[in-house]
Amino acid sequence: MAITGRFEVKAILVLGLTLFSCVANGAASQRRSLIDRRSLTDTNAAAPSSHPLESFIKAWRAGCDSGSPAKVVIPQGTFVAGPTVFQGPCKAPMTMEVQGVVKATTDLSQYTSPEWISFEIIDGLTLNGKGTFDGQGAAVWKYNDCDTNKNCANLPDSLKFHRVNNADMSDFTSLNSKYFHLHVVKCGNIRFHHMNITAPDESPNTDGIHISNSNAITVASSFIGTGDDCVSVGQGVTNLTVKEIICGPGHGISVGSLGKYPNEEDVSGIVVTSSIVFHIIMDQVKNPIIIDQNYGSKSTEPSRVKISDVHFRNIKGTSTSIVAVNVECSSAVPCEGVELQDIDLAYTGSKGSALLRLRVPMLKLQQAAHRILELVHNFFFWLFFFLVTFSIFWATKNRRCQHKLACRASFWCTVLLIAT
Ligand SMILES: *[C@@H]1O[C@H](CO)[C@@H](O)[C@H](O)[C@H]1NC(C)=O
Ligand SMILES: *[C@@H]1O[C@H](CO)[C@@H](O)[C@H](O)[C@H]1NC(C)=O
Repeated sequence: MAITGRFEVKAILVLGLTLFSCVANGAASQRRSLIDRRSLTDTNAAAPSSHPLESFIKAWRAGCDSGSPAKVVIPQGTFVAGPTVFQGPCKAPMTMEVQGVVKATTDLSQYTSPEWISFEIIDGLTLNGKGTFDGQGAAVWKYNDCDTNKNCANLPDSLKFHRVNNADMSDFTSLNSKYFHLHVVKCGNIRFHHMNITAPDESPNTDGIHISNSNAITVASSFIGTGDDCVSVGQGVTNLTVKEIICGPGHGISVGSLGKYPNEEDVSGIVVTSSIVFHIIMDQVKNPIIIDQNYGSKSTEPSRVKISDVHFRNIKGTSTSIVAVNVECSSAVPCEGVELQDIDLAYTGSKGSALLRLRVPMLKLQQAAHRILELVHNFFFWLFFFLVTFSIFWATKNRRCQHKLACRASFWCTVLLIAT
């Protein structure tokens, strides 16, 4: 087994893999998997002892290529790692068990792509263990200046899941990410549960979990307390369930936050975000519930993300902002089927009690009301038109307007017709 730095590295490959034969294969494919990142050999040359995660990548590669289900264990201890990719496709399901503490390096120049540890193109993944991923964000939050600096570098997310399907992630802690804690993109059928996601209240953009372009994701039974949203939902998310989450401090849930992530792919055409259910306890949360299709979009054009079939059910707790629920739908692609049920959010400040703010350009109800008004308007228009024609006809028939009633009717009908 490889010994790196002070730490013993135990990579356990289940089902009788001979590690050394695999490491040889692994080394070649590992380079492939890191092809667009700063290569590990470079960083190792600079600081040989600070990247012991290398051996886990080798073990991963070996297991991934082995053809049988394999498990990589990161044992008790503290490890330091720069940007790391665990990449598939693998020939069989993979498990990674994290027992120790993995700390991110804080030299941002190493992060050529904005993520720290990423899992890519994997079908069948289990990530578990009571270990911790520590993004060490406190050292770099001050560089989060994209609001004011156009040439800013995007800070890396802690754990990125890209094109991962059929996975179960549980039990670990994600601490002080530099940017998002978990970032889920183009994934399907993943269950995240029993996680502890923690960062200070004031840390910027440390969202608990940001999900986009994914189907059938469940986030359950976890603590999420960060400086930004507990759960933020971008474009193209379907069949998302978020339940039994204790959220706070930080922000709450946001849906439709297109443009929240600097690299989020541009939407051409309308992307649907739908079938989403939330069931959460909020604890001292700022903006507990937000649907904002205008969030962060740099252009003045409204969002092209159509939000439909979103259910906020049984959401209880406390809000530190007076507007506890803010629903602001796009005028271009109005939201549909947004349900708020059993919402009990108390405002903890002194300015009054919690508010619900709805800016919904065209709710079904409004559309109906609008249509009825239009019908009424048309009805009266044609009624007056008829009366005027009729009374003019009457008046001219009885020359010099002998019938007082007809004269008056014709006069007032003309006035009303002009008015309408
Ligand atoms: C979550 O992790 C943080 C940091 O390790 C710890 O302080 C906190 O107690 C944990 N919370 C829970 C509920 O386990
Ligand atoms: C969402 O789930 C339903 C029911 O399981 C399924 O029919 C539908 O295809 C899913 N949506 C997408 C976009 O896969």
